[in-house]
Amino acid sequence: MSGLDDVIAAETRLSDVDGANGRLVICGRTLDDLAGRTSFEDILALLLGEAIGLDAGAIRSRLAAARQRAFAEIAHIDAGILALSITEGLRALMARLTDGESADTALLLAAAPAVFVPALIRRKAGEAVIAPDLKRGQAADMLFMLTGAEPLPAAISGLDTYLVTVSDHGLNASTFAARVVASTRAGYTSAVLAALGALKGPLHGGAPGPVLDMLDAIATPANAATWITAELDRGERLMGFGHRIYRVRDPRADALKGALNRLGEAGGMDADRLALAEAIERDALVALRAAKPDRVLDTNVEYFTALLLEALGFPRDAFTGVFAAGRVGGWLAHAHEQVANGRLIRPRSRYVGLRPQIAPVERFEAARP
Ligand code: ACO
Repeated sequence: MSGLDDVIAAETRLSDVDGANGRLVICGRTLDDLAGRTSFEDILALLLGEAIGLDAGAIRSRLAAARQRAFAEIAHIDAGILALSITEGLRALMARLTDGESADTALLLAAAPAVFVPALIRRKAGEAVIAPDLKRGQAADMLFMLTGAEPLPAAISGLDTYLVTVSDHGLNASTFAARVVASTRAGYTSAVLAALGALKGPLHGGAPGPVLDMLDAIATPANAATWITAELDRGERLMGFGHRIYRVRDPRADALKGALNRLGEAGGMDADRLALAEAIERDALVALRAAKPDRVLDTNVEYFTALLLEALGFPRDAFTGVFAAGRVGGWLAHAHEQVANGRLIRPRSRYVGLRPQIAPVERFEAARP
Protein backbone atom coordinates (compact mmCIF):
# COMPACT_ATOMS: atom_id res chain seq x y z
CA MET A 1 0.00 0.00 0.00
CA SER A 2 2.59 2.58 1.09
CA GLY A 3 4.62 2.12 -2.12
CA LEU A 4 1.56 1.47 -4.36
CA ASP A 5 3.27 -1.87 -5.20
CA ASP A 6 0.44 -3.65 -7.00
CA VAL A 7 -1.68 -0.68 -8.01
CA ILE A 8 -2.37 -0.35 -11.77
CA ALA A 9 -2.41 3.43 -12.27
CA ALA A 10 -2.36 3.67 -16.08
CA GLU A 11 -2.93 1.74 -19.29
CA THR A 12 -0.03 2.11 -21.69
CA ARG A 13 1.10 0.92 -25.12
CA LEU A 14 4.66 2.03 -24.41
CA SER A 15 6.40 -0.62 -22.33
CA ASP A 16 5.80 -3.73 -20.27
CA VAL A 17 8.03 -4.89 -17.43
CA ASP A 18 7.61 -8.63 -16.87
CA GLY A 19 9.28 -8.92 -13.48
CA ALA A 20 8.63 -12.63 -13.04
CA ASN A 21 10.30 -13.63 -16.31
CA GLY A 22 12.88 -10.83 -16.51
CA ARG A 23 11.57 -9.43 -19.79
CA LEU A 24 11.19 -5.82 -20.96
CA VAL A 25 9.01 -5.05 -23.99
CA ILE A 26 9.10 -1.56 -25.54
CA CYS A 27 6.33 -0.81 -28.07
CA GLY A 28 5.95 -4.49 -28.94
CA ARG A 29 9.67 -5.32 -29.21
CA THR A 30 11.85 -7.04 -26.62
CA LEU A 31 14.87 -5.26 -25.20
CA ASP A 32 17.04 -8.13 -26.51
CA ASP A 33 15.84 -7.23 -30.01
CA LEU A 34 16.40 -3.48 -29.54
CA ALA A 35 19.58 -3.11 -27.48
CA GLY A 36 22.74 -2.93 -29.60
CA ARG A 37 20.71 -2.78 -32.83
CA THR A 38 18.89 0.54 -32.59
CA SER A 39 19.82 4.16 -31.95
CA PHE A 40 18.28 6.75 -29.64
CA GLU A 41 16.52 8.22 -32.69
CA ASP A 42 14.99 4.81 -33.52
CA ILE A 43 13.63 4.36 -30.00
CA LEU A 44 12.27 7.92 -29.99
CA ALA A 45 10.51 7.11 -33.27
CA LEU A 46 9.03 3.96 -31.71
CA LEU A 47 7.90 5.71 -28.53
CA LEU A 48 6.85 9.09 -29.87
CA GLY A 49 7.01 9.06 -33.69
CA GLU A 50 3.31 8.45 -34.27
CA ALA A 51 2.34 11.03 -31.66
CA ILE A 52 4.42 13.78 -33.28
CA GLY A 53 3.97 12.56 -36.86
CA LEU A 54 7.67 11.89 -37.62
CA ASP A 55 9.62 8.76 -38.66
CA ALA A 56 13.15 7.90 -37.50
CA GLY A 57 14.81 9.77 -40.41
CA ALA A 58 12.86 12.97 -39.79
CA ILE A 59 13.44 12.63 -36.05
CA ARG A 60 17.20 12.38 -36.66
CA SER A 61 17.38 15.72 -38.50
CA ARG A 62 14.82 17.53 -36.30
CA LEU A 63 16.59 16.28 -33.16
CA ALA A 64 19.95 17.56 -34.43
CA ALA A 65 18.34 20.97 -35.05
CA ALA A 66 16.83 20.81 -31.55
CA ARG A 67 20.31 20.18 -30.11
CA GLN A 68 21.40 23.43 -31.71
CA ARG A 69 18.43 25.25 -30.16
CA ALA A 70 19.33 23.72 -26.79
CA PHE A 71 22.94 24.82 -27.21
CA ALA A 72 21.80 28.46 -27.29
CA GLU A 73 20.71 27.95 -23.65
CA ILE A 74 24.28 27.13 -22.58
CA ALA A 75 24.93 30.88 -22.37
CA HIS A 76 22.77 30.86 -19.22
CA ILE A 77 25.20 28.66 -17.27
CA ASP A 78 26.31 31.07 -14.55
CA ALA A 79 28.20 30.77 -11.26
CA GLY A 80 24.98 29.74 -9.48
CA ILE A 81 24.38 26.84 -11.86
CA LEU A 82 28.05 25.82 -11.77
CA ALA A 83 27.84 25.59 -7.96
CA LEU A 84 25.09 22.95 -8.28
CA SER A 85 25.55 19.21 -8.92
CA ILE A 86 25.29 18.18 -12.58
CA THR A 87 21.78 16.81 -12.00
CA GLU A 88 20.65 20.01 -10.31
CA GLY A 89 22.35 22.10 -13.02
CA LEU A 90 20.51 20.06 -15.64
CA ARG A 91 17.26 20.65 -13.76
CA ALA A 92 17.94 24.42 -13.67
CA LEU A 93 18.67 24.60 -17.42
CA MET A 94 15.67 22.43 -18.34
CA ALA A 95 13.45 24.70 -16.20
CA ARG A 96 14.24 27.64 -18.51
CA LEU A 97 12.64 25.91 -21.52
CA THR A 98 9.18 27.07 -22.56
CA ASP A 99 6.30 24.77 -21.67
CA GLY A 100 3.96 23.32 -24.27
CA GLU A 101 2.64 20.12 -25.84
CA SER A 102 3.91 20.57 -29.42
CA ALA A 103 6.29 18.32 -31.39
CA ASP A 104 8.89 21.11 -31.26
CA THR A 105 8.71 21.26 -27.47
CA ALA A 106 9.00 17.46 -27.27
CA LEU A 107 12.06 17.39 -29.56
CA LEU A 108 13.77 20.23 -27.68
CA LEU A 109 13.25 18.37 -24.41
CA ALA A 110 14.50 15.12 -25.98
CA ALA A 111 17.65 16.87 -27.23
CA ALA A 112 18.38 19.12 -24.26
CA PRO A 113 19.91 16.67 -21.71
CA ALA A 114 22.35 15.37 -24.37
CA VAL A 115 23.58 18.96 -24.83
CA PHE A 116 23.35 20.25 -21.25
CA VAL A 117 25.11 17.35 -19.52
CA PRO A 118 28.38 17.51 -21.56
CA ALA A 119 28.32 21.34 -21.36
CA LEU A 120 27.92 21.27 -17.56
CA ILE A 121 30.70 18.69 -17.22
CA ARG A 122 33.08 20.79 -19.32
CA ARG A 123 32.19 24.14 -17.70
CA LYS A 124 32.58 22.67 -14.20
CA ALA A 125 36.03 21.41 -15.25
CA GLY A 126 36.92 24.91 -16.51
CA GLU A 127 36.88 23.81 -20.17
CA ALA A 128 35.20 25.45 -23.17
CA VAL A 129 31.91 23.96 -24.32
CA ILE A 130 31.69 22.17 -27.69
CA ALA A 131 28.81 22.90 -30.07
CA PRO A 132 26.59 20.11 -31.47
CA ASP A 133 26.90 19.00 -35.10
CA LEU A 134 23.91 18.51 -37.41
CA LYS A 135 25.57 15.56 -39.16
CA ARG A 136 25.91 13.33 -36.12
CA GLY A 137 23.39 11.11 -34.42
CA GLN A 138 22.49 12.04 -30.84
CA ALA A 139 24.78 9.47 -29.13
CA ALA A 140 27.81 10.32 -31.29
CA ASP A 141 27.18 14.04 -30.81
CA MET A 142 26.82 13.71 -27.04
CA LEU A 143 30.20 11.92 -26.87
CA PHE A 144 31.79 14.51 -29.16
CA MET A 145 30.41 17.39 -27.05
CA LEU A 146 31.91 15.64 -24.01
CA THR A 147 35.46 15.02 -25.26
CA GLY A 148 35.95 16.97 -28.49
CA ALA A 149 37.33 13.77 -30.08
CA GLU A 150 35.71 11.58 -32.72
CA PRO A 151 34.25 8.65 -30.71
CA LEU A 152 34.99 4.97 -31.47
CA PRO A 153 32.12 3.20 -33.28
CA ALA A 154 31.90 0.82 -30.28
CA ALA A 155 31.56 3.84 -27.97
CA ILE A 156 28.74 5.34 -30.07
CA SER A 157 27.02 1.97 -30.15
CA GLY A 158 27.62 1.58 -26.39
CA LEU A 159 25.95 4.92 -25.62
CA ASP A 160 23.09 4.18 -28.04
CA THR A 161 22.63 0.81 -26.30
CA TYR A 162 22.48 2.57 -22.96
CA LEU A 163 20.04 5.30 -24.09
CA VAL A 164 17.76 2.68 -25.69
CA THR A 165 17.99 0.32 -22.70
CA VAL A 166 16.86 2.96 -20.22
CA SER A 167 14.41 4.75 -22.54
CA ASP A 168 11.27 3.38 -20.93
CA HIS A 169 10.42 1.04 -18.09
CA GLY A 170 6.75 0.89 -17.20
CA LEU A 171 5.38 3.11 -14.49
CA ASN A 172 8.62 3.76 -12.61
CA ALA A 173 8.65 6.67 -10.13
CA SER A 174 9.88 9.35 -12.56
CA THR A 175 7.52 8.27 -15.35
CA PHE A 176 4.60 8.27 -12.94
CA ALA A 177 5.61 11.78 -11.82
CA ALA A 178 5.68 12.87 -15.48
CA ARG A 179 2.21 11.41 -16.09
CA VAL A 180 0.74 13.09 -13.00
CA VAL A 181 2.01 16.51 -14.08
CA ALA A 182 1.09 15.96 -17.75
CA SER A 183 -2.44 15.03 -16.64
CA THR A 184 -2.88 18.56 -15.25
CA ARG A 185 -2.05 19.90 -18.77
CA ALA A 186 0.88 21.87 -17.32
CA GLY A 187 2.95 21.00 -20.41
CA TYR A 188 5.80 18.65 -21.34
CA THR A 189 8.55 20.78 -19.79
CA SER A 190 6.86 20.71 -16.39
CA ALA A 191 6.25 16.95 -16.75
CA VAL A 192 9.93 16.32 -17.59
CA LEU A 193 11.06 18.52 -14.68
CA ALA A 194 8.91 16.55 -12.24
CA ALA A 195 10.37 13.34 -13.64
CA LEU A 196 13.91 14.65 -13.31
CA GLY A 197 13.26 15.46 -9.66
CA ALA A 198 12.13 11.89 -9.03
CA LEU A 199 15.03 10.41 -10.98
CA LYS A 200 17.56 12.25 -8.81
CA GLY A 201 16.90 10.06 -5.74
CA PRO A 202 19.34 7.25 -4.88
CA LEU A 203 16.54 4.69 -4.82
CA HIS A 204 15.77 5.45 -8.47
CA GLY A 205 18.33 7.01 -10.85
CA GLY A 206 20.94 8.15 -8.39
CA ALA A 207 22.60 4.76 -7.77
CA PRO A 208 25.27 4.30 -10.48
CA GLY A 209 27.70 6.80 -8.93
CA PRO A 210 27.66 4.91 -5.61
CA VAL A 211 28.25 1.64 -7.51
CA LEU A 212 31.67 2.98 -8.52
CA ASP A 213 32.32 4.16 -4.95
CA MET A 214 31.80 0.51 -3.97
CA LEU A 215 34.24 -0.67 -6.66
CA ASP A 216 36.82 1.86 -5.46
CA ALA A 217 36.40 0.81 -1.83
CA ILE A 218 36.82 -2.89 -2.71
CA ALA A 219 39.76 -2.15 -5.09
CA THR A 220 40.78 -5.78 -5.82
CA PRO A 221 38.74 -8.97 -6.43
CA ALA A 222 40.31 -10.61 -3.36
CA ASN A 223 38.69 -8.00 -1.03
CA ALA A 224 35.20 -8.32 -2.45
CA ALA A 225 33.62 -11.04 -0.28
CA THR A 226 34.87 -9.59 3.05
CA TRP A 227 33.86 -6.01 2.19
CA ILE A 228 30.41 -7.07 1.02
CA THR A 229 29.72 -9.20 4.10
CA ALA A 230 30.78 -6.35 6.42
CA GLU A 231 28.52 -3.94 4.53
CA LEU A 232 25.50 -6.24 4.76
CA ASP A 233 26.20 -6.94 8.46
CA ARG A 234 26.00 -3.19 9.07
CA GLY A 235 22.55 -3.22 7.46
CA GLU A 236 23.71 -1.33 4.36
CA ARG A 237 22.31 -1.97 0.87
CA LEU A 238 24.58 -2.94 -2.00
CA MET A 239 24.14 -0.38 -4.77
CA GLY A 240 23.26 -1.91 -8.15
CA PHE A 241 21.36 -4.87 -6.70
CA GLY A 242 17.66 -5.46 -6.04
CA HIS A 243 14.59 -4.21 -7.84
CA ARG A 244 10.97 -3.55 -6.93
CA ILE A 245 9.59 -5.40 -9.96
CA TYR A 246 12.21 -7.90 -11.18
CA ARG A 247 12.22 -11.13 -9.26
CA VAL A 248 14.86 -12.52 -11.60
CA ARG A 249 17.80 -10.83 -13.26
CA ASP A 250 17.12 -7.34 -14.70
CA PRO A 251 17.35 -7.87 -18.51
CA ARG A 252 18.83 -4.39 -18.84
CA ALA A 253 21.89 -5.50 -16.87
CA ASP A 254 22.69 -8.07 -19.58
CA ALA A 255 22.05 -5.60 -22.44
CA LEU A 256 24.58 -3.21 -20.88
CA LYS A 257 27.06 -5.97 -20.04
CA GLY A 258 27.00 -6.90 -23.76
CA ALA A 259 27.79 -3.28 -24.75
CA LEU A 260 30.57 -3.19 -22.19
CA ASN A 261 32.14 -6.39 -23.52
CA ARG A 262 31.99 -5.03 -27.10
CA LEU A 263 33.64 -1.81 -25.91
CA GLY A 264 36.33 -3.91 -24.19
CA GLU A 265 36.99 -5.86 -27.40
CA ALA A 266 37.41 -2.53 -29.27
CA GLY A 267 39.97 -1.35 -26.68
CA GLY A 268 37.62 1.17 -25.04
CA MET A 269 37.40 -0.48 -21.61
CA ASP A 270 40.02 -1.33 -19.01
CA ALA A 271 40.20 -5.15 -18.66
CA ASP A 272 41.16 -5.06 -14.93
CA ARG A 273 38.15 -2.85 -14.14
CA LEU A 274 35.83 -5.29 -15.92
CA ALA A 275 37.38 -8.27 -14.07
CA LEU A 276 36.91 -6.45 -10.72
CA ALA A 277 33.26 -5.71 -11.54
CA GLU A 278 32.59 -9.33 -12.48
CA ALA A 279 34.20 -10.61 -9.24
CA ILE A 280 32.17 -8.16 -7.11
CA GLU A 281 28.95 -9.10 -8.87
CA ARG A 282 29.62 -12.82 -8.30
CA ASP A 283 30.43 -12.35 -4.59
CA ALA A 284 27.56 -9.91 -4.04
CA LEU A 285 25.01 -12.35 -5.45
CA VAL A 286 26.28 -15.13 -3.17
CA ALA A 287 26.23 -12.82 -0.12
CA LEU A 288 22.75 -11.43 -0.90
CA ARG A 289 21.35 -14.94 -1.33
CA ALA A 290 22.73 -15.85 2.11
CA ALA A 291 21.63 -12.59 3.79
CA LYS A 292 18.10 -12.46 2.29
CA PRO A 293 17.14 -16.04 1.41
CA ASP A 294 13.45 -15.14 1.08
CA ARG A 295 14.01 -12.27 -1.34
CA VAL A 296 15.46 -12.52 -4.87
CA LEU A 297 18.05 -9.75 -5.07
CA ASP A 298 19.86 -9.79 -8.41
CA THR A 299 21.93 -7.33 -10.43
CA ASN A 300 19.98 -4.29 -11.62
CA VAL A 301 20.53 -1.86 -14.50
CA GLU A 302 22.59 0.53 -12.41
CA TYR A 303 25.47 -1.88 -11.88
CA PHE A 304 26.61 -2.12 -15.51
CA THR A 305 25.44 1.43 -16.21
CA ALA A 306 28.14 2.62 -13.85
CA LEU A 307 30.88 0.72 -15.66
CA LEU A 308 29.66 1.58 -19.14
CA LEU A 309 29.28 5.32 -18.50
CA GLU A 310 32.65 5.41 -16.75
CA ALA A 311 34.29 3.71 -19.76
CA LEU A 312 32.59 6.20 -22.10
CA GLY A 313 34.26 9.05 -20.19
CA PHE A 314 31.36 10.44 -18.14
CA PRO A 315 32.26 11.49 -14.57
CA ARG A 316 30.16 9.70 -11.94
CA ASP A 317 28.25 12.80 -10.82
CA ALA A 318 26.93 13.06 -14.40
CA PHE A 319 25.45 9.54 -14.52
CA THR A 320 21.95 10.58 -13.46
CA GLY A 321 21.99 13.27 -16.15
CA VAL A 322 22.96 10.70 -18.82
CA PHE A 323 20.15 8.47 -17.53
CA ALA A 324 17.80 11.42 -18.05
CA ALA A 325 19.10 11.78 -21.65
CA GLY A 326 17.73 8.29 -22.37
CA ARG A 327 14.64 8.19 -20.13
CA VAL A 328 13.41 11.56 -21.45
CA GLY A 329 12.10 9.62 -24.49
CA GLY A 330 9.84 7.55 -22.23
CA TRP A 331 8.79 10.55 -20.12
CA LEU A 332 7.66 12.43 -23.21
CA ALA A 333 5.82 9.44 -24.68
CA HIS A 334 4.02 8.84 -21.37
CA ALA A 335 3.20 12.54 -21.03
CA HIS A 336 1.70 12.47 -24.51
CA GLU A 337 -0.22 9.26 -23.80
CA GLN A 338 -1.58 10.75 -20.57
CA VAL A 339 -2.66 13.98 -22.30
CA ALA A 340 -4.36 11.92 -25.03
CA ASN A 341 -6.15 9.96 -22.31
CA GLY A 342 -7.44 13.29 -20.99
CA ARG A 343 -8.06 12.28 -17.38
CA LEU A 344 -6.57 14.19 -14.44
CA ILE A 345 -4.69 11.80 -12.10
CA ARG A 346 -6.10 12.41 -8.66
CA PRO A 347 -6.00 9.41 -6.27
CA ARG A 348 -7.39 9.48 -2.75
CA SER A 349 -5.71 9.07 0.62
CA ARG A 350 -7.09 7.43 3.74
CA TYR A 351 -6.99 9.80 6.71
CA VAL A 352 -5.40 8.13 9.75
CA GLY A 353 -4.70 11.30 11.79
CA LEU A 354 -6.46 12.69 14.84
CA ARG A 355 -10.20 13.41 14.58
CA PRO A 356 -11.67 16.54 16.20
CA GLN A 357 -13.19 15.67 19.61
CA ILE A 358 -16.03 18.24 19.58
CA ALA A 359 -18.91 17.92 17.15
CA PRO A 360 -19.38 21.12 15.08
CA VAL A 361 -22.80 21.91 16.61
CA GLU A 362 -21.42 21.65 20.19
CA ARG A 363 -18.52 23.95 19.29
CA PHE A 364 -21.04 26.51 18.00
CA GLU A 365 -23.01 26.31 21.23
CA ALA A 366 -19.84 26.63 23.35
CA ALA A 367 -18.75 29.74 21.48
CA ARG A 368 -21.96 31.60 22.44
CA PRO A 369 -21.62 34.15 25.27
N1 ACO B 1 21.29 -4.68 -0.72
C1 ACO B 1 20.96 -5.28 0.45
N2 ACO B 1 19.71 -5.52 0.84
C2 ACO B 1 18.73 -5.14 0.02
C3 ACO B 1 18.98 -4.54 -1.24
C4 ACO B 1 20.33 -4.31 -1.59
N3 ACO B 1 20.66 -3.73 -2.73
N4 ACO B 1 17.81 -4.28 -1.85
C5 ACO B 1 16.84 -4.70 -1.05
N5 ACO B 1 17.40 -5.23 0.10
C6 ACO B 1 16.70 -5.82 1.23
C7 ACO B 1 16.08 -4.72 2.10
O1 ACO B 1 16.98 -4.28 3.11
C8 ACO B 1 14.88 -5.45 2.67
O2 ACO B 1 15.31 -6.27 3.73
P1 ACO B 1 14.35 -6.45 5.02
O3 ACO B 1 13.07 -7.03 4.49
O4 ACO B 1 15.14 -7.38 5.88
O5 ACO B 1 14.19 -5.08 5.58
C9 ACO B 1 14.45 -6.37 1.54
O6 ACO B 1 15.61 -6.57 0.72
C10 ACO B 1 13.35 -5.76 0.69
O7 ACO B 1 13.70 -4.44 0.39
P2 ACO B 1 12.65 -3.35 -0.12
O8 ACO B 1 13.19 -1.99 0.21
O9 ACO B 1 11.27 -3.70 0.33
O10 ACO B 1 12.67 -3.59 -1.65
P3 ACO B 1 12.21 -2.57 -2.72
O11 ACO B 1 11.51 -3.36 -3.74
O12 ACO B 1 11.48 -1.41 -2.18
O13 ACO B 1 13.63 -2.03 -3.19
C11 ACO B 1 15.32 -1.01 -4.38
C12 ACO B 1 14.03 -1.84 -4.48
C13 ACO B 1 14.97 0.38 -3.80
C14 ACO B 1 15.91 -0.82 -5.76
C15 ACO B 1 16.32 -1.71 -3.44
O14 ACO B 1 16.60 -3.02 -3.92
C16 ACO B 1 17.63 -0.93 -3.25
O15 ACO B 1 17.69 -0.05 -2.39
N6 ACO B 1 18.70 -1.25 -4.02
C17 ACO B 1 19.94 -0.53 -3.94
C18 ACO B 1 19.85 0.79 -4.69
C19 ACO B 1 19.80 0.62 -6.19
O16 ACO B 1 20.49 -0.23 -6.77
N7 ACO B 1 18.97 1.47 -6.84
C20 ACO B 1 18.76 1.45 -8.30
C21 ACO B 1 17.52 0.70 -8.63
S1 ACO B 1 17.31 0.44 -10.35
C22 ACO B 1 16.44 1.82 -10.91
O17 ACO B 1 15.70 2.40 -10.23
C23 ACO B 1 16.67 2.30 -12.27
